[in-house]
Amino acid sequence: MSYNNIIFEEDKKIAYITINRPKKLNALNKETIAELHDAFYEADSDKNIRVIILTGSGEKAFVAGADISEFADFDISQGAELAKNGQKILFDFVENLSTPVIAAVNGFALGGGLELAMASHFRIASDNAKMGLPEVSLGVIPGYGGTQRLPQLVGKGKAMEMIMTAGMIDAKEAKDYGLVNHVTTLEELIPLCEKIAGRIAKNSGTAISSAIKSINDNFKDGVNGFKTEVNQFGNCFGTDDFNEGTTAFLEKRKPNF
Ligand code: COA
Repeated sequence: MSYNNIIFEEDKKIAYITINRPKKLNALNKETIAELHDAFYEADSDKNIRVIILTGSGEKAFVAGADISEFADFDISQGAELAKNGQKILFDFVENLSTPVIAAVNGFALGGGLELAMASHFRIASDNAKMGLPEVSLGVIPGYGGTQRLPQLVGKGKAMEMIMTAGMIDAKEAKDYGLVNHVTTLEELIPLCEKIAGRIAKNSGTAISSAIKSINDNFKDGVNGFKTEVNQFGNCFGTDDFNEGTTAFLEKRKPNF
């Protein structure tokens, strides 16, 4: 598939999705959101791909937010539709993807950019990264899951402060907050993501998908994550990966998933 606003590459077991609107600091316009959906779908459908690394092009921004020029004249129902559709086709879609998604936060991750990083399964930042949800400075609130995922990741009080002040935190603070797992230099950002992706790719893809689903269900209203875990745990026993993993252990060799 060809894309106008993103670069999609595959190498060995990793898919790289790079948001590529550097002149607009990779702001998410409608077309980019639709293309991201298609790219994540494409990567997730390819059984050779074991990890997806998501980043922004250039050295300045991961994503500086939703494209403000596209919604500045929206009315109430258009605003609600924007949030609903975006959550469905991109943010919830990424969070619930069965292939692990690592956000490589390489600069500004603001508004929808931070929301996209938070929808990813975990985040690694370069030391120039700046993160925030500045929507209230525009008279609006985060609409792509930010009011829900930020408190899940950093706690209610810190989320309240970040959202109310519309301020930015740097990479070190983001790590202290638990918003990103690691901080490194810009040069080392993708290599570090690849190193961690390599460790993930050695393990069972089907078991990892079950783990993602079980962990996510902890945060879903009206869903009992413990029950999901029981079901997913049971399902693992019917997979080729379980057979290979346990057999390899008993035969004292490395599994070949
Ligand atoms: N939507 C649309 N365009 C955006 C954008 C966004 N979220 N963020 C940046 N851009 C555009 C700018 O309009 C500018 O375009 P232009 O050159 O055609 O005028 C270009 O990207 C470069 O941005 P600029 O503001 O000149 O860079 P800067 O280094 O001075 O500031 C930021 C960087 C990130 C602090 C600033 O761009 C910013 O505050 N962006 C908006 C962040 C935001 O509120 N996001 C949440 C949206 S809901």
